[in-house]
Amino acid sequence: MSAAREHFGSRLGFVLAAAGSAVGIGNLVSFPVAATKSGGGAFLLVYALFVFLICLPVMMAELALGRKSDKDPVGAYRQLSGGSRLWRIPGWFALITPFMIAVFYMVVTVWILGYLVEVFKGNLGLLATEAYFGEFINSKTVFLYLIALMLIINGVLSMGVKDGIERAAKTLMPMLFVMLLVLVLFVLTRENAMLGVQYYLIPDFSKLTSEVVSKAMSQAFFSLSLGMGIMITYGSYMKRRDSIPGSARAVAITDTLVAVTAGLLILPSIFHFNPQIDTTTLSDSSAGMIFLFLPKIFLSLQDSIGYAGASIFAGAFFFLVFIAALTSLVSIIEVPVATLRDERGMSRRKAIYTIAAIQLVLAVGCAMSFGMADWLTQFVTLAGSNKSFFDLVEILFYDTILPLNGLLVCIFVIYKWKKANFDAELQEGDKAFAGSLSQKYVNFSLGTFIPAILLLIFINTVALKFFGSSIF
Ligand code: PHE
Repeated sequence: MSAAREHFGSRLGFVLAAAGSAVGIGNLVSFPVAATKSGGGAFLLVYALFVFLICLPVMMAELALGRKSDKDPVGAYRQLSGGSRLWRIPGWFALITPFMIAVFYMVVTVWILGYLVEVFKGNLGLLATEAYFGEFINSKTVFLYLIALMLIINGVLSMGVKDGIERAAKTLMPMLFVMLLVLVLFVLTRENAMLGVQYYLIPDFSKLTSEVVSKAMSQAFFSLSLGMGIMITYGSYMKRRDSIPGSARAVAITDTLVAVTAGLLILPSIFHFNPQIDTTTLSDSSAGMIFLFLPKIFLSLQDSIGYAGASIFAGAFFFLVFIAALTSLVSIIEVPVATLRDERGMSRRKAIYTIAAIQLVLAVGCAMSFGMADWLTQFVTLAGSNKSFFDLVEILFYDTILPLNGLLVCIFVIYKWKKANFDAELQEGDKAFAGSLSQKYVNFSLGTFIPAILLLIFINTVALKFFGSSIF
């Protein structure tokens, strides 16, 4: 490309954009759900350990890859491997993975948008009925929302890195933090809310099975937007004078704080709704929580604050999740956009149109795999059970390839690009990093136990999802 590469305008801008990517449905719903089901404070502790000891070094590695090469993931692997054919493969994985994860994440975001609009129309009561979700996801309106969502995302992307992505993050992220806090403070004043807080924060270590530990790891990895080429791409938009370790730490802290705070919203709401609730009966999935359970909880607030009050609360919640999902989608779709620009020399606009066209087709396929089209609903059989097209995309890319991508990043950075080069890149813009404990830890862990853990997760997922048996 002849034009100079775009960059984030400021370090804060970068941190907010990367936090915008990291903070998503994963933080606001999946994390609280997982913590509820898996030992509360105990899960939280394990999760935080994974974020800071395992995921943070991987984030630094991805950012360094991007910033050093000044390229999209495909270009980064090609350039820093000296053109090796073998090392092109992870570059392509780091392109296809975000592309496909975006597709299934878009479908869930479309449903959130649909719920948000219904709440605004005064239909919270309708959302709280058992049958609504199934009817809604199989209605034609889903496609209208999909088009609206794609227009918003691509509208932001078309304005570029600084005026689009960074500006959106600078506006939306502070708004998200404030709204989250306001909602939490309100919920904490409700009757029995403290039961929820207790349940959430008091650790129950007996629930920490190997399965739970592995879930905490996958959750942390996904939540920090790793393994999807996003941090490589965003790294390439970082200025050389900014600190990679410092910025990565800020993103990880923000992401974790939001997740923990979201638990203080969800758990007290659940216990206010039913102080005797048996949490084992709650759905394991975030979708089950967002679309089937939470509307009932929100509606129940009408006893104390009236229907309008309950609707405002529900609207604020869906808006919050929508913003979080939107900023994540912007970051993930920027990966293929950057690749088409860097590798094919396309203009931003042309890259956006090309990707949007393909994604629209695939997202429609995903949206139709909940009953609208039989062949998509029963797309394949895995480990003896029928899986829809949506399930398959999730299992292949989110569950399986994500840890594999992380593993490949670690091995590449330490053994192919080489530790010394990586270390020099981390010191660029952060003189205090040299000689620090953090430096020693990052360099050692990325070449040893972090890839080992990611490998174990990868093998276990393949065994579990494709062969129906877990190795631990
Ligand atoms: N970090 C996001 C979350 O927690 C995951 C994600 C990132 C999903 C980017 C899509 C795109 O939900």
